[in-house]
Amino acid sequence: MIYLDNAATTLRKPDCVAQAVCAALGSFGNDGRGVHAGALSASRIIYETRERLASLLGCARADHVVFTANSTEALNIAINGALGAGDHVLSTDLEHNSVLRPLYRLQQERGAAVDFLHADTVGRIDYDDFERLLKPNTRAVVCTHASNLVGNMLDIARIGKFAKEHGLLFIVDASQTAGAYPVDMERMGIDVLCFTGHKSLMGPQGTGGLCIREGVELRRWKVGGSGVKTFLTEHPGELPTRLEAGTLNGHGIAGLHAALGFIESVGVEAIHAHEIALMRRFYGAVRGIEGVTVYGDFETDARAPIVALNVRSYASDEVADELSEVYGIATRAGAHCAPRLHCALGTREQGAVRFSFGYFNTEDEVDAAAEAVRRIAQ
Ligand code: ALA
Repeated sequence: MIYLDNAATTLRKPDCVAQAVCAALGSFGNDGRGVHAGALSASRIIYETRERLASLLGCARADHVVFTANSTEALNIAINGALGAGDHVLSTDLEHNSVLRPLYRLQQERGAAVDFLHADTVGRIDYDDFERLLKPNTRAVVCTHASNLVGNMLDIARIGKFAKEHGLLFIVDASQTAGAYPVDMERMGIDVLCFTGHKSLMGPQGTGGLCIREGVELRRWKVGGSGVKTFLTEHPGELPTRLEAGTLNGHGIAGLHAALGFIESVGVEAIHAHEIALMRRFYGAVRGIEGVTVYGDFETDARAPIVALNVRSYASDEVADELSEVYGIATRAGAHCAPRLHCALGTREQGAVRFSFGYFNTEDEVDAAAEAVRRIAQ
C-alpha cells in the first residue's frame, strides 16, 4: 500500500515508537501512584514527554503540558473550560468539527455567540475581518493552525498579536502541524495549544493534549483519582493534575516520548522540507491534468503537506475507492469533518480526495499516485 492519508493519522511510525510501547507494557506501573520502580519508570517517562513537548511547542512550563486522548478532547477542555454564557468568540471557516461542534454547542446550550471569518474559494481568510467582527464581549479566538482539508495555514503569529492587543484568549488547534512545522506558543502569542499525538507527532493513537500558558485558568472537566491530596473533597487545582483525573495512557505516552526523540533528532525544519517537497512534486504533476481540480492556496510553503482534488465530476469516494482497490493508494475522500470549508470551496456535494504526505513517503510513491490520478482522469 502507498499510504497518503497522513493527515488522518501517520500509519508508518519510527521503529522506536512500537519498541517503546512494548517496553512500557512490560515495565510501567502507575504514574504518581507509588514509589516502586514500576511507578517511577512511568512517572519519569511521562514527565520527560511533557518536557519534550514543552520544548518542541514553545510552552514555558513542562507541568503545563496536560495529556488527553486526542485533540478533540483537548479542544473540548479548552473551549468549555474557558468560555460560557455571554461570551463572543471568533473562529474561521477552516475549522475541523473538533473546533466547530464545541463552539456550536457553546452557542446552542450555553448562550455564547460565535462569528466565523469566511474563507474564499481558495480557502483564504481576510485578516481584517478579525477587527471588523470584534465586539465588546469578544473573549477569545479559536482557530486551527492549518486546514486538515486543503493544508492552508493561518498566520498564527498575526492572529496572536491581534488577540493580545484586544485582551482575548487565543486557543489554537495544532492537529495538522505539531511535529511537522515550527510551533512556538510564546512567539506566536498562543494561550492554549491543542495537539494530537498520532498525526505528525508520529506517536500512538489515544495520545494528545494541551499546552497552557501560565496564568490561563481552565475549569476542571472531570474529577476523580489524582494520586495526591486524597482527603480533599475537591480535585487538586494544580496543573497538570487539575485536568488529568484517572490513570493516564502511560503506554501510549511512552510511544509518544520515543516519537518526540525521533523528531528531535531529525529536526522539524527537515521534516517540513521533506514533506513539502513531496507535496510540491505531486501538486506539480496533477495540477495540469485535464479534468483535475485542485483546491487550496499553493502560493507559499507555509502550509501542511496536503493536496485535495477532484477528478471531473466523479464522486470523491468513488475515486478514493478506485485509488485504493486498483492502485493500492490510501487517501481520504468525502467531507473530512470540515463542513464550512467544503461549502466555501463549493465541494459540499462532491467532497474531495485528499492526498496527505508524511515523513516516510518517497518520490516514487508520489509519482505512482500522480500517474494513478492521470489514468483515472483519462
Ligand atoms: N481529523 C482527521 C482527518 O483530517 C481524522 O482526517
